[in-house]
Amino acid sequence: MYNSFGEIFRFTTFGESHGKAIGVVIDGVPAGVDFDEEFLIQELKRRRPGQNRFATQRKEDDFPEVLSGVFEGKTTGTPISIVIFNKDQKSKDYSNIKDIFRPGHADFTYFNKYGIRDYRGGGRSSARETAARVAAGAVAKMILKEFNIEIEAGIVEIGGIRAQNLDFDFAKNSPILALDKEKEKIWMDLIDEARKSHDSLGGVVKLKIKNAPIGLGEPIYYKLDNIMASAMISINAVKGVYIGNTNAHKLKGSENNDQIGKNGFLSNNSGGVLGGISNGEDIELEIYFKPTPSIFQTQKSIDIKGNEVEVNLKGRHDPIVAIRGAVVAESMAACVIADMLMLNATRKIENLKKIYF
Ligand SMILES: Cc1cc2nc3c(=O)[nH]c(=O)nc-3n(C[C@H](O)[C@H](O)[C@H](O)COP(=O)(O)O)c2cc1C
Repeated sequence: MYNSFGEIFRFTTFGESHGKAIGVVIDGVPAGVDFDEEFLIQELKRRRPGQNRFATQRKEDDFPEVLSGVFEGKTTGTPISIVIFNKDQKSKDYSNIKDIFRPGHADFTYFNKYGIRDYRGGGRSSARETAARVAAGAVAKMILKEFNIEIEAGIVEIGGIRAQNLDFDFAKNSPILALDKEKEKIWMDLIDEARKSHDSLGGVVKLKIKNAPIGLGEPIYYKLDNIMASAMISINAVKGVYIGNTNAHKLKGSENNDQIGKNGFLSNNSGGVLGGISNGEDIELEIYFKPTPSIFQTQKSIDIKGNEVEVNLKGRHDPIVAIRGAVVAESMAACVIADMLMLNATRKIENLKKIYF
């Protein structure tokens, strides 16, 4: 229950950073979806560590093995399970923090809650788990493709410097997924600077869902916006989510309302969601990531006995998590939309009649 997400399109992840494997079981995928294994591999590659200097240098090929739920290139309606074996664990790097809590990380809370902690690479609290979500997201995207629904994401802010002109096509080929060509170099320099001074940076991701139909979202407790926010905040290091115009709280009603003409909405401050239901416009959100907690500066902490200690970390870490986090955010958004599509299909008697008569 606590490792699962979704109602109909429901996935459960398992595994730890330095365990044998991580993986996902996805239930509720309709039969007959074209299963594109190459696409799954490519999606995992986009999140994979070690690709450039803007990510952790841990080298994982993140190759997925599909164990069930697919036959002759199509989904069968049975659970799809995907496993990714861990290869490049360097657990020794973590032996010096075995009994010490890293500031900003989940060590303190995991230990105090459970009384036991897999300290190797952060165990279950490591973002290694997010590879399993990307596998689930890839399957969700295979469903969305049947409806021509697309999801794209990129970096809109680093170090307080915000993008001006957003270009999602540019972001696709940028090593830091920069949405603004003019800001790419500035942001890269900031990341290099942080890395060289043994520090890290936060960042903001902008995400857009295109061609979603009207009607997704189940008020009142399974609204599109509250579930989307929950999906995003469940990603490690995400501390905030904004739906629609991030300045809405500073605007007047007359400025923020999206007026309606016969061809649709005249603006999209709502970010495509009204009353928890999609309104047919692009669904737009921003996702706020804190800086990577594991940094290579001496910091104060305590050990498991409560003694004050100085922490000096070894190991390999992302200088900024928002970049790889953008791919995870896309995946979570795809899972939410796939789930909402299926939920919505049962919400009108006409739809049910279409199936049975
Ligand atoms: C894609 C991704 C990569 C991450 N990489 C690292 C990392 O290399 N080192 C680290 O300390 N934290 C990393 N994090 C963040 C931690 O997992 C996270 O901060 C930690 O689990 C504590 O949870 P919280 O920040 O949500 O409170 C990463 C997060 C994401 C989404």
